[in-house]
Amino acid sequence: MNDLDQLVQDAQADFERSVMPADLENAKARYLGKSGRLTEQLKALGTLSAEEKKSRGALINSAKQQVEAALNARRQALADAELEAQLKAEALDVSLPGRLRGTGAVHPISRTMERVEAIFGSMGFDVADGPEIETDWYSFTALNNPENHPARSTKDTFYVDMKDAEGRWLNLRPHTSPMQIRYAQAHAKKYAGEASMPDIRVIAPGRTYRVDSDATHSPMFHQVEGLWVGENVSFKDLKVMYLEFIQAFFETTELKLRFRPSYFPFTEPSAEIDIMFETGPLKGRWLEVSGSGQVHPQVIRNMGLDPERHIGFAFGSGIDRLAMLRYGISDLRLFFDGDLRFLSQFK
Ligand code: DAH
Repeated sequence: MNDLDQLVQDAQADFERSVMPADLENAKARYLGKSGRLTEQLKALGTLSAEEKKSRGALINSAKQQVEAALNARRQALADAELEAQLKAEALDVSLPGRLRGTGAVHPISRTMERVEAIFGSMGFDVADGPEIETDWYSFTALNNPENHPARSTKDTFYVDMKDAEGRWLNLRPHTSPMQIRYAQAHAKKYAGEASMPDIRVIAPGRTYRVDSDATHSPMFHQVEGLWVGENVSFKDLKVMYLEFIQAFFETTELKLRFRPSYFPFTEPSAEIDIMFETGPLKGRWLEVSGSGQVHPQVIRNMGLDPERHIGFAFGSGIDRLAMLRYGISDLRLFFDGDLRFLSQFK
């Protein structure tokens, strides 16, 4: 093998070994650069005779062409490899299963509230919403609670580290009953000075709070307050209306209602509402679902109304309790643990 063949072979091997484009350019310089091996051969031509120059020059040129061809082939190969790697990295595997977006669902308590709202809505009741952080007046005083009533105690009610305008601690409302006052006050104000006032018919569902926690009590729970005030309403209206509601709620007429005498400071007389299913798994047991009563005259006064003219009926029902009965759930805490195995059953 002559020296030029050796040079061509070395160049080919050198190029073949270059993995990165920069390696290849360095290898190129070793042959075709200013003091590269081929360039040195060309420089050496100057020392030869005209005859030798011609034949040797032709050989060097042929070698140079081979080196350049090898260089270009390797350049192309490296570019192809890079493109291929890039395509591979950016490849979209259309056979890969997609990322599933789980279908969400409305929480069973929210569903229950929506259900309660829809039923009372269809019966002509307005739906009202109010603050969960309440003043002492709205949670207790306006509702005729005496100053020393145990509900005010920190054993029962959560307080917020902030005082209201009267200098009394704000509370997390222990029931939705403050909404009776808030709504009725606004209504009374709206119709003040008019000859007559349309009846107040409202429900106020929402979160409530008490210092209590076990399988049937949660420190945060839900109630729906109902209020009907007018010049011509009676206990009978409360009974008819509640029966209609509860039958629509449980989608059955095979259900009995019982008003059991009770006591609340804001109603007189007061009653607990119990229901009994005549069929199904809960058949035959009286279940307490609500407090109720005729709104106390002092509470009517606190609403800005005249107890000589206006009479009212109210109720406060446990939403969570209604949901537990409807879905057959025995532990209230399941609603609030956020466990998807439980919640996904309500899709
Ligand atoms: N606020 C009462 C409670 O949380 C429930 C209640 C009873 C509401 C009688 C009423 C009512 O509106 O008339 O225990």
